[in-house]
Amino acid sequence: MPAMDDHASRLRVASRMASIEPFEVMEIQTLARNLEAQGRDVIHLEIGEPDFTTPAPVVDAARRALDAMPMFYTSALGIPALREAISRFYRERYRVEVPAERIVVTAGSSAALLLAFGVLLDAGDEVLLSDPGYPCNRHFVHALGGLPRLVPVDSRSRYQLTPDLADEAWTPRTRIAMVASPSNPTGTLVEPGEIAALAAMARERGATLLVDEIYHGLTYGRDARTALEAGDDVFVINSFSKYFQMTGWRLGWLVAPRPYVRELEKLAQNLYISPSTLAQHAALAAFEPGTIAILEARRRELQARRDYLLPALEALGFRIGAKPEGAFYVYAECSALADDSFALAREALAKAGVAFTPGKDFGFNAPERHIRIAYTQPVARLEEAVARLRAFLAGRA
Ligand SMILES: Cc1ncc(COP(=O)(O)O)c(C=O)c1O
Repeated sequence: MPAMDDHASRLRVASRMASIEPFEVMEIQTLARNLEAQGRDVIHLEIGEPDFTTPAPVVDAARRALDAMPMFYTSALGIPALREAISRFYRERYRVEVPAERIVVTAGSSAALLLAFGVLLDAGDEVLLSDPGYPCNRHFVHALGGLPRLVPVDSRSRYQLTPDLADEAWTPRTRIAMVASPSNPTGTLVEPGEIAALAAMARERGATLLVDEIYHGLTYGRDARTALEAGDDVFVINSFSKYFQMTGWRLGWLVAPRPYVRELEKLAQNLYISPSTLAQHAALAAFEPGTIAILEARRRELQARRDYLLPALEALGFRIGAKPEGAFYVYAECSALADDSFALAREALAKAGVAFTPGKDFGFNAPERHIRIAYTQPVARLEEAVARLRAFLAGRA
């Protein structure tokens, strides 16, 4: 048996791997699990998925499908009934006509992102992304030979890539401008007027606007409008993971301009053949009125959590630069409390048993001054977390 070091020195990985970073939150999560194994109670506010289980009608539909049919591959574009159901969802919820032929069902929105970047990017093409932002986007771009161009954003633009910021960062190599509304990690929305302006800018410059709407449905006090209103040339990704609470089923979708669908189909066929057959049949029940009623009650619960947490965090000394209007995250500035958010996250976990994500996971724009808190716990647990943090911070003062 060769020694570990020999093995490591023989490891040959592609140079692109140098640009792909792991999630820091996993380190926090591992530390949290170790504490739990020692019998400590940890309040998990670091995880980016809802604490609710998949709605019962969806699980029942999966059971019925398993009994009723063989689980063969489907079309790479997804089963026609689900593509139709998603098309109806756009008509009923958004009053927007999206023909089923433009909808590509994917293995989570992660696969939708991979397909979109895959058909759009040539080596060296640039993608405008907000910093902070969802880290996988820049890693997808790197993996495909593109260049992520991270645009620092702050509370002045509600942590979003505005048309003005996009214009400043634009270069002749810009191929895609991407926004997420609501965003991870900040929970802020891009206004429909800004989406329209970004779409027009991309159109005039021979580029594409790509909008991540994965947190749609989880907005509080107002409904989000889809970027599909801004034109048939916008790419939109969405998912069954967050609003529909189906993270582990790995199902999402992409709405693409019609001429791209064949290209997307070819790439999907080759990359993963088809999305999960079982998940697709289960997801047919996701749009039923009974399921939507469950999801809307959960949305109200998430709003109550957010409404509790925002003032409570501010009272602890965190600063929230832009009120989150969606998703289930608070992106809070912690510079009044600590110089290094990563050290703060580790210390809060070790001493208070509260886990949250340091800013480092979301880019390079002042990550040491920010943390992300996910309100994926009931209000009573959030109250306990705030009480623990209060005691912990008082002890450090
Ligand atoms: C902004 C954003 N986009 C995309 C994804 C990918 O999710 P999935 O592949 O589960 O649809 C996530 C997951 O956390 C996310 O936060």
